[in-house]
Amino acid sequence: MRSTRLIVNGAATSVTADEDTPLLDVLRNHLGLKGTKFGCGLEQCGCCMVLVDGMPEKSCGKPVSAVAGKAIVTIEGLGTPDRPHPLQQAFLEEQAGQCGYCLSGILISAKALLDRNPSPSRVEIAEALDDNICRCGSHNRILRAVARAAERMREGAS
Ligand code: FES
Ligand code: FES
Repeated sequence: MRSTRLIVNGAATSVTADEDTPLLDVLRNHLGLKGTKFGCGLEQCGCCMVLVDGMPEKSCGKPVSAVAGKAIVTIEGLGTPDRPHPLQQAFLEEQAGQCGYCLSGILISAKALLDRNPSPSRVEIAEALDDNICRCGSHNRILRAVARAAERMREGAS
């Protein structure tokens, strides 16, 4: 066991855990951030995606020691029910989720995309979400929701 310092959703924190504990376990079980989901546990489905220093990373296979001192953003860091992120608002408007299990990972990947590319094409959105699997088959609605959010964010910035 050792103490690891992290910055999670803008707040500095430290956790005491074995250094090979997956970041996903630390987020869910040590810090109580249950929005990031366990899907396959094998870095195959993208349910567990979080931002690490702005880049989307699968947290199920990432030891906590590998992210010491880094800035982590989880779905809880995107928005709130009262003040949703434009992506969350667009997903609601497009009814882009069915069971919703994949969505926190997809929203994180989409945020990383829009942070670096405010005007992505449909192909670029699909490529950015290639590591995220939606078992419900909501892909078309998800692509539309990301495009809608991008448009909304461009309008807000102009
Ligand atoms: S739970 Fe991490 S990729 Fe599936
Ligand atoms: S909405 Fe069910 S897995 Fe994507």
